[in-house]
Amino acid sequence: MKYIISLAAALLLLGCSSEQKASEETTEASPAANIVETIQTKTAEVGKHVEEATQAAKEKTQKLVDEAAEGAKKVQESVTDVSQNITEEIAQTSQNIQDNVADTTEKIADELKQTTQEIQEAVATQSAVSEGDGTNLFKRKCASCHGATGEKAALGKSQIIKGWEAGKIITALNGYKEGNYGGAMKGLMASQAASLSQDDIEALAAFLSKQ
Ligand code: HEC
Repeated sequence: MKYIISLAAALLLLGCSSEQKASEETTEASPAANIVETIQTKTAEVGKHVEEATQAAKEKTQKLVDEAAEGAKKVQESVTDVSQNITEEIAQTSQNIQDNVADTTEKIADELKQTTQEIQEAVATQSAVSEGDGTNLFKRKCASCHGATGEKAALGKSQIIKGWEAGKIITALNGYKEGNYGGAMKGLMASQAASLSQDDIEALAAFLSKQ
C-alpha cells in the first residue's frame, strides 16, 4: 500500500511538473510572438512611411525638374524670339542699305551718263567750230533772226546774207564789231558780233558762203 501511494504521488508530481512546464512554454512563447509581430508591424509601418516619403520626394523632384524644364523652355523661347527679331532687323537694315546703295549708284550712273553726254556734245560743237564749220554757231546765235541758212531779212531790215562771199561777211561782221559798218540797226548787230572771235567769224563766213 505504501508503495502504491508513493507511486501515485510520484505520478502526480510528474504530471504537475509537465503541466507546469507546458503552461510555462505557452506563456513564454506568447510574448515573443507578440514582439515579433509588433516588430513586423512596426517594420511594415516604417517601410510604408519610407515608401511614402520616397514617393513624395520623387514627386517633388519631378515637379522641380518639370518647373526647371519649363523655365528653360521659356528662356529658350524668348532668346529665340529676340534673336529672330534681331535677325529680321538686320535683314531689313541691310536691305535698306542695299536699296540706298543701288539707288545712289543708279543716280550717280545717270548723272555720269548725262555729264558724259554733255561733254561729248560740247566737244562735238567745239570741234565743229574749230574745224571751220559754222553750222552750229549760226544755228545757236544767228538763225533766229536770219533764218536757218541766212535766207531771211533779219527783223525785216537786213539784207539776205545767204550765199554771200566769205570776204564780204567777214568785212561786215568785223565792221559791226568796230562800229564802222551797217545801217539803222547796226547797234544791234554790234552786240551780236562783239563776242565772236576771228575763228568764229571765219567759220560763219565759210558756212554762209556755201548756202
Ligand atoms: C536779233 C536779231 C539778229 C541776230 C540774232 C543777228 N542778226 Fe545779223 N542782222 C540783224 C539786223 C537787224 C541786221 C541789219 C543791221 C543794220 O542795220 O546794219 C543784221 C545784219 C547782219 C549782216 C549784214 C547784212 C546787212 O544788212 O548789211 C550780217 C553779215 C549779219 N547780220 C550776220 C549775222 C550773224 C553771223 C549773226 C550771228 C552771229 C547775226 N547776224 C545775228 C539782226 C540780227
